[in-house]
Amino acid sequence: MHDFNYLIPRSYRTDFKVASRGEGIYIFDEKGTPYIDGCSGALLSNIGHGNRAVIDAMTRQLENIEFAHPSRWMCPVVLEAAEEIAAITPGDIKNVWLVSGGSEAVESAIKFSRQYFVERDGVQSSKYIVIGRWNSYHGSTLGTMAVGGSMPRRRIFSPLFKEFPKIQPHYCYRCSYGQTYPSCGVMCARELETSIKRIGPQYVAAFIAEPVVGSTVGALNPPTEYWPIIREICTRYDVLLIADEIMTGIGRTGKAFGVDNWGVVPDIICSAKAMSGGYSPVGGMFVRKPLAETLKNGSGSFTHGHTYNGNPVTAAAVSATLRFIRENNLFEKAAILGSHLGNRMEALLENPIVGEVRGIGLMRGIELVRDKKTREPFEPSMKAAQKLTQECMTRGLVVYPGTGQADGISGDQFMVAPPLVIERGEIDELVSRLDEALKATAKILLPQ
Ligand SMILES: Cc1ncc(COP(=O)(O)O)c(C=O)c1O
Repeated sequence: MHDFNYLIPRSYRTDFKVASRGEGIYIFDEKGTPYIDGCSGALLSNIGHGNRAVIDAMTRQLENIEFAHPSRWMCPVVLEAAEEIAAITPGDIKNVWLVSGGSEAVESAIKFSRQYFVERDGVQSSKYIVIGRWNSYHGSTLGTMAVGGSMPRRRIFSPLFKEFPKIQPHYCYRCSYGQTYPSCGVMCARELETSIKRIGPQYVAAFIAEPVVGSTVGALNPPTEYWPIIREICTRYDVLLIADEIMTGIGRTGKAFGVDNWGVVPDIICSAKAMSGGYSPVGGMFVRKPLAETLKNGSGSFTHGHTYNGNPVTAAAVSATLRFIRENNLFEKAAILGSHLGNRMEALLENPIVGEVRGIGLMRGIELVRDKKTREPFEPSMKAAQKLTQECMTRGLVVYPGTGQADGISGDQFMVAPPLVIERGEIDELVSRLDEALKATAKILLPQ
């Protein structure tokens, strides 16, 4: 164990490995042992580690200028990054606000939604509420926790923020309505309308959701009708639709953005993580042109800002990352290899603790259960996800675990989401290590 006399780590109880080097899909510890980065860090190292093109672009920018305050200076590299982003965003989502992380991107979207209605309808606008969903995560700042619904992450902090309403997610494996798809008629999507009507549409500014739920439920992909229904309801009630694409964006699901899988154009996309491939802290809020025009022709500025808005070194990383993705057709590759990963993971359903295999593209997840028939989760004290993660680590595989999705307390799941540069053979190796780890975990967790 390291002694943390100065640094406050993510956890004092974790025996951290030393990350000494990265190359492609591998992270090497200090002894030179390679680990498959099976979750791309936290679904951000989409172009793998040690990418020369990105390193060179960032170095060149550092040699030109490292920083010029965004209130007075514009660096061409920042305009270039915005143009690169606008080339892959859906519909008329063409205006880009650059920040340093996902939480900042979501905070920006919440504040932008409010300002948009004030600029459009006047300061008397009563629209400010952002509806979210249970079992969701949109960031760790107070504003983002108010719209997020992940109990393990928000429970102790809830007195600190103003609560916003939540609807149930499309969690078919544990449907809140006791229904089965498709006879349910996708009630969970239609609940948005009920919720807007109850609150009063004149108070509702936006609805926020992840196209595929990431860390909180483990690659939970929606029924096909879900996003088109949500889009239609938001349009009908003059409510902005915010897609949190912080995990799903930049090719993770086999398309540029998760919403592209259902041909839906939201009003705002929040992105982060893989925008810079993990080479520099980044976030972005991308809005439909008419929304940006409202501010442009109104007050003339977004009443919000950070020192690192449009950081030039980050911008260089973003442009180089997106160019690399384009030149190597990584979105298309993620779709093809994602199907292969999904098929290989389906076979893991034979394991007695694998309750469900889900996901889309190179964003896959497994829910662990004590009893496959009843779907009973493990007791939280058994730390099932943690044990599985440990078994994976000892086999040179990094996965992304999460807990609490079943009822806010119990439930274990993990995601498998390797860099988009992974090859077919490497996927086979990843799944074979995962298979071994799951077998070992089942032996530990299930009474013989
Ligand atoms: C869906 C989603 N939204 C927001 C965030 C917050 O991003 P960040 O950690 O960069 O602040 C995350 C982080 O994992 C996320 O997964």
